[in-house]
Amino acid sequence: MKIAMIGTGYVGLVSGVCFSDFGHEVVCVDKHEGKIAGLRDGRIPIYEPGLDALLARNVAEGRLSFTTDLAEAVHGADAVFIAVGTPSRRGDGHADLSYVYAAAEEIARSATAPTVVVTKSTVPVGTNREVARILRETRPEFAWGVASNPEFLREGAAIDDFMKPDRVVVGLDADGSDQARQVMGDIYKPLFLRDFPIVYTDLESAEMIKYAANAFLAIKITFINEVAALCEKVGADVKAVSKGIGLDGRIGAKFLHAGPGYGGSCFPKDTNAFAQTGQDFGQRLRLVESTIEVNEAVKARMVDKIAALSGGSLKGKTVTVLGVTFKPNTDDMRDAPALAIVPALQAAGATVRAVDPQGRREGEHLLPGVEWLDDPYVAAEGAHMVALLTEWNQFRALDLKRLAAAMAEPRLADLRNVYGPDEARAAGFLAYDAVGRQGFGAEPAQAQRAVAE
Ligand SMILES: NC(=O)c1ccc[n+]([C@@H]2O[C@H](COP(=O)([O-])OP(=O)(O)OC[C@H]3O[C@@H](n4cnc5c(N)ncnc54)[C@H](O)[C@@H]3O)[C@@H](O)[C@H]2O)c1
Repeated sequence: MKIAMIGTGYVGLVSGVCFSDFGHEVVCVDKHEGKIAGLRDGRIPIYEPGLDALLARNVAEGRLSFTTDLAEAVHGADAVFIAVGTPSRRGDGHADLSYVYAAAEEIARSATAPTVVVTKSTVPVGTNREVARILRETRPEFAWGVASNPEFLREGAAIDDFMKPDRVVVGLDADGSDQARQVMGDIYKPLFLRDFPIVYTDLESAEMIKYAANAFLAIKITFINEVAALCEKVGADVKAVSKGIGLDGRIGAKFLHAGPGYGGSCFPKDTNAFAQTGQDFGQRLRLVESTIEVNEAVKARMVDKIAALSGGSLKGKTVTVLGVTFKPNTDDMRDAPALAIVPALQAAGATVRAVDPQGRREGEHLLPGVEWLDDPYVAAEGAHMVALLTEWNQFRALDLKRLAAAMAEPRLADLRNVYGPDEARAAGFLAYDAVGRQGFGAEPAQAQRAVAE
């Protein structure tokens, strides 16, 4: 099959590379010239483990290429995928669909023959119908096929997720669905042959599946974060609680790790867009709305915890932050909890240093006033606090004794529950706090004053 992939970001690039690895002929398109020039030279614009080798192999074998010329890519393609961004629209939380509609128009204008247009971007209910309308109005002479094919890959594990998905969802509309179904079936045949389930449904259900899945996961994370706050009050340990409830097959252990709140390029914008869809249709999604609100409070609570651990005030203190990306194994900083927590620490009077294996490039733009270092022990020298925000492997097995010895005041805010109070005490820390567990050495009452000041 010949595939054009419009948008060469996290999703478009991974999907394009993986489709070419299935044996299809793929042309990846992006309007960002620097990105395409880099890709042509073998430089990958994102950090995604394993992507460089897979990309190089498929380029070398002649199945994968890159261009800024959409018309050239669309020419002769059996399917054109739209994988452009759908960020939150400024001000109201709706998904900004302007990139999707612009891509649909460009596809329609440049096509020399009818093809199947597949939306991979996360888009609210009704978007694929609008894409179909744009295509059919712009080029009424063509029998367009339209399909919704939301993507579920996770950054940091994207290739594995794409190659071994829990499911592939394909939404089709009544017009042209036979052709679209055939093309989608052929594209995903390598997965189908290996028994990965493909769910065929209508366009609206496919769009809904993506948002409902992300909202459910955001609710699950937020639920355990609320339980964690109560654990701290009653003397329970959220790690034991997560394990105890996660072993229930009806609940499952995933997404039950308490932490500093969800972030990233999907959950925040998708929960907002989903809540807006509910409001637009007069059917409010109150659980989703509460989740958004609670998640903001979770991030604010982390700042209180750090201030409390710092003896009540952050004025004049140096805080070393380990990890700024929203999770390990990605360089993506979009809506990372660090973007709320770090400025709040600075506003409370702290000087912030940061270490992150991949987040520095973006972090330097997004977090002004932060001093960037590469080594956690060097970054801890003379600091009054280490705050572990992202559990990169490099930060999971720190020599806590060495870390404590380097600091002016050894205090550890372990916001990913990597270590424990006994370990921290034995290493010489004066104060330790985690999320949903019992720490030591914090002074909460003054801390709240310090943050409020
Ligand atoms: N990032 C994820 O983990 C993830 C996972 C699942 C779904 N999604 C969804 O996939 C979509 C894409 O997300 P992303 O993170 O890959 O975005 P991204 O911002 O990394 O990439 C989008 C790319 O599209 C390009 N682009 C925009 N308009 C274009 C046009 N008309 N022609 C050519 N290129 C164009 C941009 O230059 C950019 O490189 C979003 O809807 C997102 O919600 C993302």
